[in-house]
Amino acid sequence: MAEQLHWINEAWEQVTKRVTRTSKRIGANFPHASEKGSYILEEPYWWTAGFWPGVLWQVYRETGDDALKQLAQECEAKLDKVQNDYYRLDHDMGFMWTLTSIAQYKITGNEDSKRRALLAANLLMGRFNVNGNFIRAWNPWSEGEDNRGVAIIDCMMNLPLLYWASEETGDPRFKSVAKRHADTVLEHFIRSDGGVHHIIRFDPDTGEKVEALGGQGYAPYSAWSRGTAWAIYGLTLSYHYTGEEKYLETAKRVAHFFISHLPEDFVPVWDFRLPAEVASPRDSSAGAIAACGLLLLAEKVRTEESPVYQKAGEKILESLYKNYGEWEGTEEGLILHGTSHFPEGKFTDNPLIYGDYFFVEGLASLKGYKELFW
Ligand code: GLY
Repeated sequence: MAEQLHWINEAWEQVTKRVTRTSKRIGANFPHASEKGSYILEEPYWWTAGFWPGVLWQVYRETGDDALKQLAQECEAKLDKVQNDYYRLDHDMGFMWTLTSIAQYKITGNEDSKRRALLAANLLMGRFNVNGNFIRAWNPWSEGEDNRGVAIIDCMMNLPLLYWASEETGDPRFKSVAKRHADTVLEHFIRSDGGVHHIIRFDPDTGEKVEALGGQGYAPYSAWSRGTAWAIYGLTLSYHYTGEEKYLETAKRVAHFFISHLPEDFVPVWDFRLPAEVASPRDSSAGAIAACGLLLLAEKVRTEESPVYQKAGEKILESLYKNYGEWEGTEEGLILHGTSHFPEGKFTDNPLIYGDYFFVEGLASLKGYKELFW
């Protein structure tokens, strides 16, 4: 136990030092992937806009460093122009406003943050397709593209915004939409072996399933590791908010699939089901996300079931710290070797801000910070 606490505290110290140093260059901006040691900054419209402020809030919660708090607040304010840009908003409002406005509301009680998060929840609910019981993922990426029937596994992590909104307002509509989407995921995304599809296309008028698509995974029936991680954490969060056993049981099934496919160092390759001739770089971000999901799952299952999930979550985080961090030198990212989008060749061996965020959240959880922003 003493040995275990030692690496967690050491890792937390490194994170605090790195984030504090990086905050002086990045400020209130929106990093996405780190290349040659420096984070590339994005416009706040991209789905990753919440993760840097999320990192800042996680570290602030422990250190009380007001400079970090102020940057997180400035990031949140910058997202206002996104909330007013209807055409560019997609389902990732959950990621964006949970780690900014809900985080701030939970920490400081700021009423403006609550208003922003409730507005985001309303906008997210507006993407619900009642014919097929799914939340539409994206708008067209190019002129004429028809995305009306597209839903993706990542959206499981957007649902907590809706559950939170129901708890906050007492209005059941948000939760009801979230549960219907989650039930569609159980029916169409999760396979019997615990693997998951990234994308399902439905007929937007009839709600019938049309096809599974490979998306960021290798193929429609492969097993994209980050999608699997989103499912573990998202399903566990759906159980957390609803108490419905079907979400817990499915989270366990997906977790077993994930854990049983981990290589020796506990950090997943980008897709668990690849032909031998396809390259298999790691995706450290999938490891970090899954670790957070596994640690929450360990709290939700029966006591005798808990160690398997707890240990897996800890092992992943320990390996990320010991084998995937570059703690000396000028690298801004916290964990190396993330894969953002292998099929499109985008950032296939880089620190990714969401990998960093979940690494920090996982460490915070091991340090005893159990109140979730989600
Ligand atoms: N589509 C979000 C992700 O890359 O996981």
